[in-house]
Amino acid sequence: MTNYNFRFWHYGLIITALLSGFLGYNLWLGDKRVFISGPPTHGHHQIEMACTSCHGEGFSDATVMQNACESCHLDALDKFSDTHPKSKFTDPRNAELLSHLDATQCVSCHREHKPEITRAYGVTLAKDFCAHCHQDIAEERDSHKDFGFETCTNSGCHNYHDNTALYENFLRKHANEPALGKKPKIPALTGLIEWTKKNKQTPALQQQDADAPLENSNQKIVSQWALSHHAIANVNCTQCHSQNENWQSKGTALTIDSCVECHIKQNESFKQGKHGMRLADRLSGQLSPMSPTLATLPMHKDAMQRVNTCVSCHDPHQPDLTFAATDACLACHNDEHSANFYNSKHGQLWRDSQNGLLPVEQAVSCATCHMPRLKKGKKVHAEHNQNANLQPNSKMIRSVCSHCHGVEFTLEALASEAQIQSNFSNSLEGHHSSMDLVRDRIEQRKKQ
Ligand code: HEC
Ligand code: HEC
Ligand code: HEC
Ligand code: HEC
Ligand code: HEC
Ligand code: HEC
Ligand code: HEC
Ligand code: HEC
Ligand code: HEC
Ligand code: HEC
Repeated sequence: MTNYNFRFWHYGLIITALLSGFLGYNLWLGDKRVFISGPPTHGHHQIEMACTSCHGEGFSDATVMQNACESCHLDALDKFSDTHPKSKFTDPRNAELLSHLDATQCVSCHREHKPEITRAYGVTLAKDFCAHCHQDIAEERDSHKDFGFETCTNSGCHNYHDNTALYENFLRKHANEPALGKKPKIPALTGLIEWTKKNKQTPALQQQDADAPLENSNQKIVSQWALSHHAIANVNCTQCHSQNENWQSKGTALTIDSCVECHIKQNESFKQGKHGMRLADRLSGQLSPMSPTLATLPMHKDAMQRVNTCVSCHDPHQPDLTFAATDACLACHNDEHSANFYNSKHGQLWRDSQNGLLPVEQAVSCATCHMPRLKKGKKVHAEHNQNANLQPNSKMIRSVCSHCHGVEFTLEALASEAQIQSNFSNSLEGHHSSMDLVRDRIEQRKKQ
């Protein structure tokens, strides 16, 4: 008997030794993919190879994983007022709910390397999982008695995390708005105003003030720079270029790091979205910058060799925010939605504004939707994380569409895949069933 046990133990050792030899060999080759069972999620494909960014060094600790998720995501989830934060479940009255589904752990709902069970937004639970905790909803709300649990998160009804544009109170406030409001209220950017306030007496720099050494004093660059907001704000050549380094360099030291000192916010948010996420501090330089060659979305062929840095949208010597807002994007992006932009009424508005027929604040560019101008006190800056309001797309209602449109109209537009593909070039009725429910409740209350 002992003999058999010993033999099995012995085989186990040999298999383990062979396996670790195989895995070690692959690690040595740098092929980390051998360890995982499938392709990464849509959200994380760019950082897949930075295994330690999620797993830490040890590969076994659930706390390390939870901390990793939180360190990259918690700010953004909080910013949009998470409906189901951890704190909701530390309440003893809700403890029982967690025996079905531990909603304090991100990986209860979002696993990685499981393509066969992964749905949109990296969710790895069945679509009707809300039933675990909301079985009684039909009793609480008569209107919901015919709804299946798989329909809770249909676009424009509910989200798990961010419901700021979907709460009943918000909808009630915006019931019965027309499709198009009177006057758009997109605020103007305030960067230069802020600088000027602090530096009232400082005159703009002129061509002759340029402090580049002779061999780098390219005349075209000097005259472009002299007309830019950088010259007005007294940013001279050597504040971006260091004297000793190669001025021809296209590396990230010049094209991103040199901007950080003065543009902290833009740098931070750039590194939280798909354009800059590979350069996040947490990855401590393991990955190269993003490039269209690594993209899963369709990109223009002649953009394949480019990299995503600050200068992919801003010519550093002649920053032009109008160019950055649309034509810069279309030099890389080549999916159906992007390519349809100029066929839409928004595209027409943008052309009109470029021809001086309309103030730019009343027009719509790619940046109006994907890099909205955010107001904080009196300051207004451009959001540099293109993913901040992308998914679920109802996040765009408050930050973008409601400047110009009624809420019901945009709920309908954003719920339609065909509208998104056509970049909103189809006409609409401006009707959404969530608003019907809200209007019914208003009527009921009047009767009571
Ligand atoms: C974006 C975060 C993230 C990255 C990056 C990542 N993983 Fe994972 N990994 C996870 C999550 C989440 C799970 C599931 C954990 C759970 O179910 O408790 C997981 C599970 C695993 C497992 C367990 C088996 C399985 O397939 O479920 C292995 C092995 C693994 N990862 C290896 C790797 C390796 C090797 C890399 C780098 C090539 C890597 N992971 C990169 C998040 C990540
Ligand atoms: C190094 C930073 C980093 C870490 C660590 C990280 N993420 Fe992400 N995650 C991102 C970025 C950046 C995106 C893409 C932009 C976005 O959608 O916000 C993303 C996207 C997502 C998405 C959207 C998926 C999609 O398909 O659109 C989910 C869900 C998500 N992460 C959950 C997690 C969970 C759960 C963990 C922990 C296992 C985790 N993340 C770890 C940076 C990170
Ligand atoms: C009980 C399930 C559940 C848990 C737990 C959960 N999520 Fe989610 N998450 C979802 C669902 C469902 C979606 C799809 C969009 C929605 O309904 O809000 C989602 C979407 C996301 C997204 C993309 C959309 C967005 O609003 O930004 C991110 C990022 C994300 N989750 C991160 C996390 C992180 C980080 C944790 C842990 C702190 C976590 N989630 C915990 C269910 C869950
Ligand atoms: C692990 C349990 C759990 C799961 C799973 C869950 N919820 Fe909840 N949800 C709660 C709790 C607890 C509350 C707070 C209830 C309260 O305050 O009355 C809540 C509240 C809500 C609210 C009201 C929020 C408010 O502040 O008024 C909505 C809407 C909601 N959940 C939708 C959903 C949807 C949609 C899903 C599935 C995508 C879901 N929930 C999944 C536990 C859960
Ligand atoms: C706001 C930061 C910034 C300022 C100010 C700046 N540069 Fe540059 N410069 C850059 C960056 C970034 C690049 C790399 C551009 C690229 O990779 O496309 C560059 C590239 C160059 C190049 C080499 C590439 C080429 O197009 O020939 C020269 C020469 C140059 N700069 C000269 C100057 C001179 C002269 C000034 C002052 C009049 C100046 N720069 C001011 C950031 C700046
Ligand atoms: C020494 C500080 C400093 C450095 C370094 C710097 N900038 Fe600026 N930049 C400013 C100031 C000040 C303004 C004017 C106020 C504003 O718009 O924020 C400005 C304005 C801008 C604008 C808006 C221009 C406009 O027409 O409204 C862009 C775009 C810009 N910078 C990009 C960059 C990039 C890209 C880099 C790095 C290659 C960089 N800056 C480096 C200080 C700096
Ligand atoms: C994907 C294109 C894109 C990239 C990459 C990009 N920007 Fe911008 N940036 C824009 C657009 C578009 C605007 C103007 C939005 C508007 O007019 O509402 C802008 C505005 C600005 C402004 C002036 C408005 C403000 O927010 O104060 C500054 C400064 C700026 N960017 C700096 C940077 C820096 C620094 C980086 C790199 C960390 C960077 N940008 C990367 C597209 C981009
Ligand atoms: C230098 C090329 C380049 C430029 C310029 C550029 N992008 Fe991108 N963009 C990319 C790449 C590469 C990705 C990542 C795609 C992926 O991960 O598959 C991306 C991702 C995105 C995403 C996220 C898509 C998703 O599914 O998560 C949005 C939205 C986006 N870009 C919008 C814009 C807008 C708006 C502009 C102009 C203001 C712009 N881009 C300029 C290359 C570019
Ligand atoms: C009126 C607002 C609006 C305008 C204008 C707009 N978009 Fe979008 N964009 C959206 C919405 C909404 C989505 C879909 C988000 C979702 O549901 O996943 C989207 C999705 C995207 C995606 C992701 C596509 C994918 O298949 O995953 C990219 C890339 C993108 N837009 C780039 C652009 C570019 C480039 C322009 C300008 C040429 C532009 N968008 C103009 C609202 C807009
Ligand atoms: C700066 C104002 C502005 C913003 C912001 C804006 N729009 Fe529009 N939108 C318009 C104008 C003006 C029209 C043209 C109306 C017309 O001529 O009938 C329009 C047209 C449309 C149409 C086509 C209607 C038709 O019948 O052809 C749709 C759909 C639409 N917008 C959806 C959206 C969505 C969704 C958002 C937010 C993601 C948004 N818009 C943001 C101003 C705006």
